[in-house]
Amino acid sequence: MLTPEAMIPDARKEALSEAVSQRFSCRKYQARDLEPGDWSALAYLCGKCALPGVRLIPLRCNEGLFSLPLMRVPVIRGVMTCAAVVTENDSRDALIYAGFSGELLVLELTAIHLGTCWVTGTYRKNLAEEKARPGTGCKLQGLIAVGYPDTKKSARRRKPLRSICTADPAEWAEGPRHMAELVMQAPSAMNLQPWQLALEPDRLILDAREHNPRTALDIGIALCHAELACSGTHTWHLAKSGDEPYCWAE
Ligand SMILES: Cc1cc2nc3c(=O)[nH]c(=O)nc-3n(C[C@H](O)[C@H](O)[C@H](O)COP(=O)(O)O)c2cc1C
Repeated sequence: MLTPEAMIPDARKEALSEAVSQRFSCRKYQARDLEPGDWSALAYLCGKCALPGVRLIPLRCNEGLFSLPLMRVPVIRGVMTCAAVVTENDSRDALIYAGFSGELLVLELTAIHLGTCWVTGTYRKNLAEEKARPGTGCKLQGLIAVGYPDTKKSARRRKPLRSICTADPAEWAEGPRHMAELVMQAPSAMNLQPWQLALEPDRLILDAREHNPRTALDIGIALCHAELACSGTHTWHLAKSGDEPYCWAE
C-alpha cells in the first residue's frame, strides 16, 4: 500500500526541496498548448503522484474555466491545461491524501519549469465536473492550473516561522527546523497558513489551529513539504479521531 513516506525516494528530495523555493501560484500563462513532451510528462506525473483514493486527471481547458459568475475577467489568465484533483470520498484522510498528491504533482511540474496554481474557489465547478467526470460517489476537490508562466514570482507573504511552531524552532535540531522552513513555504487556500508544528521527544506533529475540510487539504499539502525533510525509516500517522492532531511522524 502506497503511503506518504513511500512516495518520494530520498534521492529525489533535494530537487523537490529546490522546487519548493521556486514554486509560486502562477495566475498568468502564455496562452499556448503544452508541448507534446510536457503533456506526456504531466500525464505520467498525474499517475505517479496520486496516493490511493486520489485521482489526478490532466485536462485541456481555457481561461473561461477559471472565471466566476458575475466576474468577466478570469482569475487565472491564459491557462490551457489543468489537473483535476478527485477523491473517492469526502473523508478527512482522503482530503489529506489529495493535498499531498496534488502538491507532489505541483513540485514535480515546478522542477520541469512549468507554472502551477492550486484553485479550489475561483473556478466553475459544474463545468470542471463535466470535463473531469469524477465518477459516481467521487468528489472533485479542485483544480491545479498548469502551463508556461507569463509572469514572475513576487515576494512571498508568509507568517514568521515562530508563529507556525509551538516552540522556538531556533532551539530545534536541524531536521525539524528544516521541516518547519519547508512547511512555511507551502501554498494554502487564501494564504491562511493554518499549520502548527510541535516537536515532542518521540514524534513530530503536523497539526492545524482548526480542523475542517479545507484545512485538511492544506495539511496534506504541508505534509508533502514536511516529507521532503525526512530521511530514513519513519511513519506518518493520520488521526483516527477528532481529538488527535491531524498527523505525526515517528
Ligand atoms: C488548497 C488551495 C486552494 C487555492 N485556491 C485558490 C483559488 O481558488 N484561487 C486563487 O487565485 N488562488 C488559490 N490558491 C492559491 C493561494 O492563494 C496561494 O497559494 C497563496 O496565496 C500563497 O501564495 P503562493 O502560492 O504564491 O506562495 C489556492 C491554494 C491552495 C493551496
